[in-house]
Amino acid sequence: MINIKIFGIIHSELVFIKNIMRAVIAVNNLGYIGKDNTLLWKCSEDLKHFKNLTTGGVLLVGYNTSLTLPPLKNREIFIYKREYDRELLILECDWCIGGKKTYEKFCHLFTELHISHINDNQVGDTTFPDLKNLNRDCKIFNYYFEPNL
Ligand SMILES: NC(=O)c1ccc[n+]([C@@H]2O[C@H](COP(=O)([O-])OP(=O)(O)OC[C@H]3O[C@@H](n4cnc5c(N)ncnc54)[C@H](OP(=O)(O)O)[C@@H]3O)[C@@H](O)[C@H]2O)c1
Repeated sequence: MINIKIFGIIHSELVFIKNIMRAVIAVNNLGYIGKDNTLLWKCSEDLKHFKNLTTGGVLLVGYNTSLTLPPLKNREIFIYKREYDRELLILECDWCIGGKKTYEKFCHLFTELHISHINDNQVGDTTFPDLKNLNRDCKIFNYYFEPNL
């Protein structure tokens, strides 16, 4: 059961979001981040890394990704749906965990972007997001993992 917490929604044309957030993403050698709303690879080292980074935090996740997200212990999940675009949102999210459109929508707020490079060559249906609006002060951290055999 996913624990969902909405911190506050007031009807308005504006969107207000806490103005800092970190992000974590994994990408394979061909630049894919997913297929059929899930990951292409199995990589326990990267899952451990994801858990270490995000435990105790509030996670912002896009609707599509939320459909297949497993339960995440000791984290609160806020699912961002398109209906919220016309509402005033007061979010206190610590991490953006994707997917593609969600990274693109919120990347101007990222202060840190943690990228796991997975040594995997499968073709997916979702590529690495277009981060042209990435916050210019965002620090990038790169990690390299082998998928499970
Ligand atoms: N490798 C990684 O680190 C990583 C992390 C997370 C996710 N992913 C992958 O990213 C992919 C998903 O990315 P994404 O850009 O498709 O989605 P997303 O960012 O997870 O969610 C945004 C999508 O949800 C839709 N949506 C929003 N509210 C909705 C509602 N009420 N009803 C129906 N649809 C709604 C949006 O549609 P509109 O645009 O039409 O509003 C948009 O297409 C998956 O393959 C996932 O596995 C990879």
